[in-house]
Formats: sequence, C-alpha cells, structure tokens
Amino acid sequence: MELDEVGRNWELFATSDPHWAVLSATGTRGGGWDLDAFFAQGVDEIGQAQVRLARLGLDVKPGRALDFGCGVGRLSQPLARWFDRCDGVDIAPSMVERARRLDDSDGRCVFHVNRSDRIGLFADCTFDFIYSSLVLQHMEPRFALGYLAEFCRLLAPGGVIMVQIPSRPLRPDELTVEPLPVDARVAEVDLPAGFPKRIVRGTQCSIAVGVTNRSAMPWPEGASLQVGNHWLDELDNVLQFDDGRAPLPSVDPGQRVDVTIQVTAPPRTGRYRVALDVVQEGIAWFGDATGGVTAPTKAARWGSRGAQVGVEVPVMETHGVEPAIVEDALRVGGLSVVGTEPTGFTGGWEGSWYVARKPDAADRA
Ligand SMILES: C[S@@+](CC[C@H](N)C(=O)[O-])C[C@H]1O[C@@H](n2cnc3c(N)ncnc32)[C@H](O)[C@@H]1O
Repeated sequence: MELDEVGRNWELFATSDPHWAVLSATGTRGGGWDLDAFFAQGVDEIGQAQVRLARLGLDVKPGRALDFGCGVGRLSQPLARWFDRCDGVDIAPSMVERARRLDDSDGRCVFHVNRSDRIGLFADCTFDFIYSSLVLQHMEPRFALGYLAEFCRLLAPGGVIMVQIPSRPLRPDELTVEPLPVDARVAEVDLPAGFPKRIVRGTQCSIAVGVTNRSAMPWPEGASLQVGNHWLDELDNVLQFDDGRAPLPSVDPGQRVDVTIQVTAPPRTGRYRVALDVVQEGIAWFGDATGGVTAPTKAARWGSRGAQVGVEVPVMETHGVEPAIVEDALRVGGLSVVGTEPTGFTGGWEGSWYVARKPDAADRA
C-alpha cells in the first residue's frame, strides 16, 4: 500500500474509532475505551521505557523528544512529563486534531501532521530521544526503513532512539492456546427474532446471540473461544472481516449459551448483512475450518431505503522486518545498537524493541 493510502486509512480510523485503532483490547471497539484507562496505558508504557533504558545503562538528556506516529497523544503526554518538549507526528490530520484537544501538557506537546516518507519538519540533530510504538509495523518495510534513516538524521549526538517493530507472524505451533480438534469446531449461531433492521452508520449496537455447541466434544474454559462478526454486502462479499467479539464460557456438546456481542455498523449508509461465527483466537474461525458450518446462520439487512453507497472500510496492514535488517539500518545511520529486546507475543507477531544511541564527541575522544 502506498503511503497516501496508508494515510487515508488512518484518517478513516481516526474519524470512526480512534482509540480502538490506536490500542485494540477486548471490549474497546466502537468507542469502548475509558479515556483515563487508555491514557494510563501510555503512562505505564513510558514508565517501562525508562526502566529499559536504565537497565541498559543509558542516560538520556531530558531535552526534546519525538513521538513518531503519535496517534491521539497517548505516549506524547507522558513523554512531555519526562522531556522539556515532545513533538508528536502523525500521518492522519484527525488523529493530530484529537491529540491537540486531549492534550493536558501545558504546551509541552506540539503536534504535527506529516504525510511524507521523509520527516522534513525538523532539522538534523533536533531530538535527544525518538520513540515509536505500534507504528512502523503498519506500513510496508520500505517506508519503515526510510523513517529509521530519518530518525538517525534527526537524533542529536548522545541521543537515543527506541522503536518497536515486529519481525514475523507466530507459527501455529508457537501459539500458547491449544487448538481445538477440527471435529470440535462445529457451532450453530442464531439471532433473536427482534433483531434490528436498522442501525445508525458507524455506531455500536448490542446483539444477543445464541451459540450452540453442535460437536460431540466439550469446548473448555480457557480455549479462547469467542463469537465474532464480519460485514457482508448484498452479494455476500465480505466488506469487513472481523468486527465485534464476545467471549464464550465453557460449552458442553448440545448446550446453548446466550451471549451479547457489540457490533459496529459500517461507516457509510448502505444495505449490509452481518455474518456471525465462532473463532478460536489466533487459530481458526470455525466456518473457515469446517467448510462453513456456522456463518452466517441467519442474517439481517440494515441500512437506509436509499441506493446502496460504496462502503469504505479502513484497513490496518501489518508487516514485519527481520531484526538483522533493522539493526543494519540503524548502524548505517551512524548509531550503535545498544539493545534488541523481544516484545514477546503481541497480536500474533514476534517483534522487538530496538534501542540505539548516536555517538557524541566524548565517545570519539
Ligand atoms: C496503532 S496507532 C499507535 C499510536 C501511538 N504510537 C500509540 O501507541 O498510542 C498507529 C499510529 O501511527 C500513525 N501512522 C501510520 N503510518 C504513519 C506514517 N507513515 N507516518 C506517521 N504516522 C503514521 C497512525 O495514523 C496512527 O495514529
């Protein structure tokens, strides 16, 4: 995806569900984040960054920080408590607008829009600290590596960069949840009779669904089973894969349980169908695994009486870059790599935090 398209997608996220798009956690889709909890996560993350730097024996001058891909300023604000000033840069104007609105840093955060593959807003050697989290993975590696080169240019001598980049998706054998046998992946999902015929575009709606275990095997607690939904057009093409989620308890063979799932209607007016299925997180959708046992068992049309309008559903792409390539890029940019620490399991990807420092006159002496 070219960068202008990346930007267009993030602008759509910023105007439809910005906090969830920045940090997705169960139950936070469709405006589900409590803002205090959301910003508290940022404070925690920056606290961990300080611990990581201390462990590596790195002292950072508390002058000027760059938060690249700042979103709504979740990390810029705590960075501005640590540094004299934090410049937050983002590709999506609506993210930046919201970051400005939510900012309580008394002018220590300054937010900018940058849509280019370079960061020409700043002169060489401007920053003492450059931080980027959950950003460089959402673009093709050629762009991520271009920004790394820019970070090296923007870093002052003695400055430190800390960036998080995934390297590869986890293989099924590395997942922590035991996959259910394929024979157990047989479900029936049904909608209640009072299912709404209309929902306001872009808004959330709770739907009660019944889920029956139609297999001969129990679905155990802790198997990461959830009921989830996709959005289809009138021809049953998938417009949006993956939307709401509701966890399932343990369910015995033949047992039916009622759960409530919060779905978010597509952002444009139109006529849609909702498809429901059971998913074992990180492993398989049941319908996919068994040739379509569950989805959709029933569907309903939502939308206006007007003509169908094309739906633009934002896409968040994820890419990985091999650690050796990231480290090389940092070295080529004149930095010494001080630490590469695995992030562990995040969103089904293996990745690392890279910490690198630009030598100063004292190092060269
Ligand atoms: C998942 S969010 C993370 C936001 C923030 N780093 C945080 O953790 O709170 C990714 C952010 O990166 C921004 N972004 C994506 N591509 C970008 C690019 N090429 N340049 C600047 N920002 C970008 C998006 O607009 C979005 O706000």
